[in-house]
Amino acid sequence: MSHSFFNLFLISLFLYNNCIAHHYTFTVREVPYTKLCSTKAILTVNSQFPGPIIKVHKGDTIYVNVQNRASENITMHWHGVEQPRNPWSDGPEYITQCPIRPGSDFLYKVIFSIEDTTVWWHAHSSWTRATVHGLIFVYPRPPQILPFPKADHEVPIILGEWWKRDVREVVEEFVRTGGAPNVSDALTINGHPGFLYPCSKSDTFHLTVEKGKTYRIRMVNAAMNLPLFFAIANHSLTVVSADGHYIKPIKATYITISPGETLDMLLHADQDPERTYYMAARAYQSGNIDFNNSTTIGILSYTSSCKAKTSSFSGYYPTLPFYNDTSAAFGFFTKIKCLFSGQVPVQISRRIITTVSINLRMCPQNSCEGPNGSRLAASMNNISFVTPSHVDILKAYYYHIKGVYGTRFPEFPPLIFNFTAENQPLFLETPRLATEVKVIEFGQVVELVIQGTSLVGGGLDHPMHLHGFSFYVVGVGFGNYNISEEDPSSRYNLYDPPYKNTMTVPRNGWIAIRFVADNPGVWFMHCHLDRHQTWGMNVVFIVKNGREPNQQILPPPDDLPPCYE
Ligand code: C2O
Ligand code: CU
Repeated sequence: MSHSFFNLFLISLFLYNNCIAHHYTFTVREVPYTKLCSTKAILTVNSQFPGPIIKVHKGDTIYVNVQNRASENITMHWHGVEQPRNPWSDGPEYITQCPIRPGSDFLYKVIFSIEDTTVWWHAHSSWTRATVHGLIFVYPRPPQILPFPKADHEVPIILGEWWKRDVREVVEEFVRTGGAPNVSDALTINGHPGFLYPCSKSDTFHLTVEKGKTYRIRMVNAAMNLPLFFAIANHSLTVVSADGHYIKPIKATYITISPGETLDMLLHADQDPERTYYMAARAYQSGNIDFNNSTTIGILSYTSSCKAKTSSFSGYYPTLPFYNDTSAAFGFFTKIKCLFSGQVPVQISRRIITTVSINLRMCPQNSCEGPNGSRLAASMNNISFVTPSHVDILKAYYYHIKGVYGTRFPEFPPLIFNFTAENQPLFLETPRLATEVKVIEFGQVVELVIQGTSLVGGGLDHPMHLHGFSFYVVGVGFGNYNISEEDPSSRYNLYDPPYKNTMTVPRNGWIAIRFVADNPGVWFMHCHLDRHQTWGMNVVFIVKNGREPNQQILPPPDDLPPCYE
């Protein structure tokens, strides 16, 4: 009890204190939380769930001292922050650092550069990000101004997923058995499941607004495994930014947001103040799998109204698209366009094509819990990524340590087949296990085509996230990418494509993204559905140093967490 009071106190400090700090202390510790009538200890930052908000001006550099006072390893990632030349503080465990062990600290240097609006931070070690996450508010650096009307208030909204069980156990179990992870027990808005779930009547997010005012919602989907639809009854939203970059304003009655993505949207409090309105989020799930199909609810009411607070069941519910409505999901995704035009590289120097697949591996005597006694896996270009377990890839690269990774990630799918066919020959299901990276020369203009396949269960959507860069989403399509076509770019948007760090590959479809490899370092790319990441739907890009001194990786910090043999 005293905890939650203290949390409220801290949150209000963050919300109402406009002063912007450049030094933060994040103490990671286990704290008991009760939800859905059951109590467990969760990992938190500074005892808060969701975690504290970081506020910066564009281009700031901040320092975050992460103190691990928990009983498991941790690392921290600054999702959507490009971190120019600074992979040392990027965070993915065994990719750019060894974990911070219980009892140890690491000082992260977070370098903001081109980020304009909202990004976020989360843990990047196993599934610890389930409860270790928070928003980052970026403000323009005066005299820069916002390209949209300034809101009267800002409202953080973090969408999440909650398991009654210890998340560590959930992971341990599905990794051991080879089956799919248990689905979560609730979705949450700012940590609250909402009154549709058992025992959650008072555990419901409540936003009070004043008639006539405008609210800027800064939203992230921090759920582990689910793209989500979100809407607010009777209120349309004006979406003004995605993944930290300005977009052409979109008026929307619902939005789709995949794990990893952030959206900024304006909410106009222009409805009857005597009524209560609900906001709701639930899954978008196109695949043929078990998932959490429940709905999380929050309450929106107006300050002038006193009765709204007493009768919480008389409000208006929003309408959300059906859970498998792919055209509704991509109808929203494909409306997102960069505010500025003419910025995407028109000439490319390299096209890399990769599949993303779910796979199966054989188990002795079919003893695993995946389909037909097999073990579930996932891959890119048929390589199921094996995360190193002793030395991280960045250290191995920087100090020329041999035997940690190979450099043979295929430029092209190793086997060309009808990627999206209804029935696939079984031999295609088996991936190769390896730690292969893709090396890119400094300054290369890369086009990466990511093709979803229907292997194992007919395919599903994959929100693919790239560290170290924002990329232009120049093409999105259903079916097979036409590899033999002479100039596929004739069908691209090379005018105002969205500039993002996470983009969802449609079920049995593809995306084409472009980025300039001007950020030297070791950069992880993976599906932001954590079960797919655990199964190996990952790759690492090593972008080499350029010639100039300011085109080279910064020297390593001296408190880097040590690796152990
Ligand atoms: Cu949001 Cu590699 O992560
Ligand atoms: Cu995926």
